Amino acid sequence: MNPIKVALLGCGTVGSEIARLLDHHGEDLAARIGAPVELTGIAVRRPDRHREVRADLLTADAAGLVASDVDIVVEVIGGIEPARTLLLDSLRANKSVVTANKALLAEHGADLYAAADASGADLYFEAAVAGAIPLVRPLRESLAGDRITRVMGIVNGTTNYILSEMDSTGAGYAETLEEASRLGYAEADPTADVDGYDAASKAAILASIAFHTRVTASDVHREGISSVTPSDIAAARALGCTIKLLAICERVGEPGEEHVSVRVHPAMLSKSHPLASVGGAFNAVFVQADAAGQLMFYGQGAGGAPTASAVLGDLVAVARNRVAGGRGPRESAYAALPVRPIGKVSTRYHISLDVADRAGVLASVAEVFAKHDVSIAAVRQEGRVGDASLVIVTHAAPDHALQSTVDDVRQLAVVHDVVSVMRVEGEQS
Ligand code: NDP
Ligand code: HSE
Repeated sequence: MNPIKVALLGCGTVGSEIARLLDHHGEDLAARIGAPVELTGIAVRRPDRHREVRADLLTADAAGLVASDVDIVVEVIGGIEPARTLLLDSLRANKSVVTANKALLAEHGADLYAAADASGADLYFEAAVAGAIPLVRPLRESLAGDRITRVMGIVNGTTNYILSEMDSTGAGYAETLEEASRLGYAEADPTADVDGYDAASKAAILASIAFHTRVTASDVHREGISSVTPSDIAAARALGCTIKLLAICERVGEPGEEHVSVRVHPAMLSKSHPLASVGGAFNAVFVQADAAGQLMFYGQGAGGAPTASAVLGDLVAVARNRVAGGRGPRESAYAALPVRPIGKVSTRYHISLDVADRAGVLASVAEVFAKHDVSIAAVRQEGRVGDASLVIVTHAAPDHALQSTVDDVRQLAVVHDVVSVMRVEGEQS
């Protein structure tokens, strides 16, 4: 059998593990595929800095490598360019692509899918969402006969690591972020993690597959964790909750008028919820489908070896397709559901206020909530000398109503400060 020729673009945290595993498991992979795999080149920015792979494989000419005689291009460079051009060129030349690049897929997925469709090449990206966890293929293939209604999960290892450490050890934000970068979890620019861009890209990919609708990163409401403070964490604890950065993709509205809602934000989650115990860089995703009911996927969501595992799974799949002379399942966006704006999405909220401690304060605050039709589920007040901390938990309310409520509450003379506003997830409204 002729070898399947593979070009590797990138040899950093993930790419170096891919090269290592290809070298160690080459014979097994050949047996599984039905043809040997030959790594023909590795493109990097600075070839002189890579001692972990064979020097004769390294090149700084990624475009030349892609244009050479290869069957499969594996991209783990990250970012938009040059990855976008390299992958479009590969697909147009009928070279199958395996990528871990969620930022690229969430922004330019449509162009990549179109190029793959036109040439008949495969485009696989299991590693782009939740590291080692098989999630893309179960959604796209195993659940293709069902109707998925909700996907909710922790899909960013870096922020989960930071929030877990802040909660369990009281460690500071900056030091845990540094450690997440050192451990290889964070993106090259870690603001992509902490500001929620990485999770938003993954949410867009998940929603697209789950709801057969093209969702891009700009359709996703996004809030990061940089404003989460130790006092938020303490407030969550007092409520029996922990704070997690959640990605939530939902099918909302009545049949015939369905929309999708896709959002990423920190939320207080009851400690009894299974996602609350997901610590460190682990990821977990709940999928709710009409016939299947609830499914949960759990595992290592970041790091070189776990991500390389998902990439190699895709590599074996597309190589098998090549050997068999076929192609794998395509993307499907036939449903084309509209995206519901965040203002119309309902959730519960936890609002923490510093207020004057005197008669009538609670009534005046409650009056503002009533004016905007935001129903209060619970109130807790702790007095201090001259002022008090007032914590309000609401029933589910539309985001626009809650924002108007907070704006008006802020104007009350008896309210000294709106200390924090955070969504509460995982319980009934
Ligand atoms: P790294 O920053 O560790 O590695 C990037 C690699 O790409 C480096 O080898 C770099 O070369 C090379 N590179 C950068 N620019 C170019 C260029 N213009 N031409 C050729 N090579 C280039 O990133 P990661 O390995 O962490 O991530 C790679 C991808 O995998 C990203 O899309 C990321 O989102 C995704 N991913 C990462 C996970 C993780 O846990 N790290 C998990 C899941 C997905 P050089 O080394 O010479 O600078
Ligand atoms: N930076 C990402 C994370 C890598 O922390 O989850 C995995 O996609």
